[in-house]
Amino acid sequence: MNFSYTSIASCSHTKARAGIFHTPHGIVETPKFMPVGTVGTVKGITPAQLKDAHAQMILGNTYHLHIRPGEDIVKKAGGLHGFMNWEQPILTDSGGFQVFSLAQMRKISEEGVKFRSPKDGKIINMTPEHSIHIQNALGADVIMAFDECPPATATREEVITATERTYRWLKRCMDAHQKPDQQALFGIVQGGIFQDLRNQAAHDLTQLDLPGYAIGGVSVGEKPELIHEIVRQTTPLLPVHKPRYLMGVGTYKEMVIAIASGIDLFDCVIPTRVGRHGAALVQGERWNLKNARFKEDFTPLDPECSCYTCQNFSRAYLNHLLRAHEMLGYILISLHNIHEMINFTNKIRASIINDTFLDEFGHWL
Ligand code: GUN
Ligand code: ZN
Repeated sequence: MNFSYTSIASCSHTKARAGIFHTPHGIVETPKFMPVGTVGTVKGITPAQLKDAHAQMILGNTYHLHIRPGEDIVKKAGGLHGFMNWEQPILTDSGGFQVFSLAQMRKISEEGVKFRSPKDGKIINMTPEHSIHIQNALGADVIMAFDECPPATATREEVITATERTYRWLKRCMDAHQKPDQQALFGIVQGGIFQDLRNQAAHDLTQLDLPGYAIGGVSVGEKPELIHEIVRQTTPLLPVHKPRYLMGVGTYKEMVIAIASGIDLFDCVIPTRVGRHGAALVQGERWNLKNARFKEDFTPLDPECSCYTCQNFSRAYLNHLLRAHEMLGYILISLHNIHEMINFTNKIRASIINDTFLDEFGHWL
């Protein structure tokens, strides 16, 4: 068995758990935040720096990598691991979510999604089979089912249609998957804000005995309280001996609530997206380092932080770099942000092992 999840500790007051997810490219110590490397790079950060920040599994995107440079080139380079020189685990998202959020002129049918490539205008026909074929070529350790993620504004009827279709697509993904011993296919629970639909989806997916499970379709514009309730109720329905991944979520409160419900994995573009616009995640807040108040502030970005940026540079220097539009400024801040998110989940993991999770992080719940 190339994939296994072992729980090593659980919280005695909540459903939080610490575990180890084994993959062909090494382990992921959970709960863990996963940096997003959409096009085969965590923007601005080298693999050596990612390793320093204690990243273990990182993300890539089927949609983007198919459009450019194309999976054939990535495959020739030795897969995504060889191409981007990341030797640790990689997860690729299926393109489902990105097609719905990014592609123009898309047409959804039972077959799949047709859309125009933003690169050359060519029609791309993304089906469950096509997504899996691309993901088999990219060679990530974890690949995601091709799903339909309805927007927060969708009606109950629309969500039923999308959720049932996602289930049929999942079965097609399983049939198309060529490398189940090298790549773990995760199913995605949809169901929008309707708990009964989530329950049904979780029940149906669990029957399929997949190597891991994700909760998708959250954080698509619905109220935070609704997300919290859905995660609290849906997570415990997923198998205990498999990794559980909450897709696209990476804010402190949401992560703590999710971990307390039994989630193991997270990803979010926030640390790199805000970082390359000059915003740093410090002490639970988002600081715009370009602000004049940092001009003569010679303290480290976060004096408590052990990252390369905080160990070596002042807020005043970062402020200067941003004002001068120097790329090092955005890089150093992204580096800190990635370190901050990973460190947050690492501290939570340690607290679960010491059984102090509720004492240390309960104020977020
Ligand atoms: N990323 C964030 N949410 C989702 C989702 O619902 N589906 C997929 N495939 N990716 C996501
Ligand atoms: Zn730092």
